[in-house]
Amino acid sequence: MRTKIVAGNWKMNQDLEGTRSLLRDLVANLPRTSVSVMVAPPFVNLPEAVALLQGVSVEVAAQNMHFADSGAYTGEISAEMLLSVGVKTVILGHSERRAYFREDDELLSKKVGKAVEKGMNVIFCFGEELADRYDGKHFEVVERQLKNALFDLPETAWKQIILAYEPVWAIGTGETASPEQAQEMHAFIRKQVAGACSESVAEGISILYGGSVKPGNAAEIFSKPDVDGGLIGGASLVADDFIAIIKAFG
Ligand code: 13P
Repeated sequence: MRTKIVAGNWKMNQDLEGTRSLLRDLVANLPRTSVSVMVAPPFVNLPEAVALLQGVSVEVAAQNMHFADSGAYTGEISAEMLLSVGVKTVILGHSERRAYFREDDELLSKKVGKAVEKGMNVIFCFGEELADRYDGKHFEVVERQLKNALFDLPETAWKQIILAYEPVWAIGTGETASPEQAQEMHAFIRKQVAGACSESVAEGISILYGGSVKPGNAAEIFSKPDVDGGLIGGASLVADDFIAIIKAFG
């Protein structure tokens, strides 16, 4: 049985008061569920989020991390720093980091390696752009992103990896991959992991879908056999919507 996960990527949204209020609303209405729920607020609010969620089964994740242990990297945050405030999971490879901060596969491979070395869990994001899909290159692009950042990992590291397929054209656009498109790609991803690592790792790994998941479309997307959850952007900023998405899955 794979772990079902619904994770909220808050991106650069919510100040301290907004973080408190959104988390309070979330906690007050959280359903009983078998789904593993996560939220990823901005760095500065991580300690507050961890404190507020003490004793609640909602995990706090970070949205990024540097690959070095420490040093002269102005503005950056290390794995140790995240661990020291109680954060054990980090989102890496998000398309916004790739596009706006020039994060490439080589850099991401270092970041993933460091997170794994430090015992952290990684939600690794990847996905094709619209032009790739038009050109029929979406499988090729996804395969390359996975291969370059993950396929050198030892088999033991894979229990720390969660995959998040996020087609760039579906992020924040209101346009989603159809449930069939998501299923087709997720099955492809699982097959790649089986080939690069092992059948058992591929069977056990959670593959999330991200890109305009809303209360109205979540149940259909989540009903697909290879879709093990969602990475939610905009809708995770509205407690009622995020809760409805969790309920759609559990
Ligand atoms: P939206 O749900 O706002 O499309 O964002 C998806 C995403 O980028 C999650 O990481």
